[in-house]
Amino acid sequence: MQNLASHHSFHFPAHCQQLVTLETVDAASEWLAHHREQQWLILGEGSNTAFIDDYDGTVVKIHITGKKVVQTEHDFLISVGAGENWHELVTYSLQHHMYGLENLALIPGSVGAAPIQNIGAYGVEVASFIDSVECLDVTTGQKQVKTTQQCQFGYRDSLFKRDWRNRLLICTVTFRLPKKWQAVTNYGELAELDNPGPQTIFNKVVSIRQSKLPDPAITGNAGSFFKNPIIPVALYHDIASRYPQCPVFAVDNERVKIPAAWLIDTLGFKGKQHGGIHCHARQPLVLTNDGNGNGKQLLELARLIRDSVLSEFGIMLENEVQLIGKQGALTL
Ligand code: EPU
Repeated sequence: MQNLASHHSFHFPAHCQQLVTLETVDAASEWLAHHREQQWLILGEGSNTAFIDDYDGTVVKIHITGKKVVQTEHDFLISVGAGENWHELVTYSLQHHMYGLENLALIPGSVGAAPIQNIGAYGVEVASFIDSVECLDVTTGQKQVKTTQQCQFGYRDSLFKRDWRNRLLICTVTFRLPKKWQAVTNYGELAELDNPGPQTIFNKVVSIRQSKLPDPAITGNAGSFFKNPIIPVALYHDIASRYPQCPVFAVDNERVKIPAAWLIDTLGFKGKQHGGIHCHARQPLVLTNDGNGNGKQLLELARLIRDSVLSEFGIMLENEVQLIGKQGALTL
């Protein structure tokens, strides 16, 4: 039995049968060939995963490292091992005058996890910089390369979360950063910046995140617990007739996005505590573990929030964080 507390950012003391770290594509291929029939799951840095209970299988940590840069006339192509740390990659790219990832600074987690949920922040989603993803097919051991189009990226979504879940193991991600850089500063506080360069945007994003979001190394959490819901315009009009101050972002002609933080805040959950789990006082979309919380309490508070939002607003919140129970993925 292996304690997983230091392998997921909620830090619940759940256990697994075995923990394996694989450092190369060949080692991953070899391991898969001998363990296909067993129960296992792939874990990066565990910053978007909560082990709710002990897991009855093997946790496979991917620690494939390395970076390779190739230039074309218009772009830098950076191929990065899945086990590299995301924020270190952002820092590295800026230090080497390759720009574009600065809005995604300080997002916890590994490079290999970035495409799975299409990490995004401050007006940028990683999908717009992904050129291709190299994977291993876990059933055949064959290498496969998926293009951006094949990945079907959406808001916090991709085929890696759906059809390819537990079928493809991500080994390397190749990013395409255009040499002609364009700032993205339309989101919130970034709009205050006057003609900023990439380093200024990076610094601003780091300081906003540090001021709002709890550091998972100190306070257990996995970032936004829920996704921002995308709802029909008609439902938004119904809500706005009762709550004219409800913030809204256009998605297309039929749908809008509402900040889940606002829904949760409006229902008074900010700062609320359930056992050792808290609804964060500065960003209520984040649930935290004060060190004494457990998976059961997390599920209870998350379900209470989800049910309260459904009853008041008619919106069903979906969890963004992956929940793992004895047999694997759990639904909230
Ligand atoms: N809001 C409130 N009360 C609060 C905080 C926010 O009502 O206490 C409302 C405000 O209307 C605010 C809006 O929520 O304008 C949006 O808040 P914020 O800018 O903090 O962003 P978010 O939509 O809550 C998303 C991502 C974050 C990302 C930020 C910044 C999701 C699920 N979350 O949060 O990503 O850092 O935007 O781009 O899309 C994560 O995925 O783990 C994550 C932290």
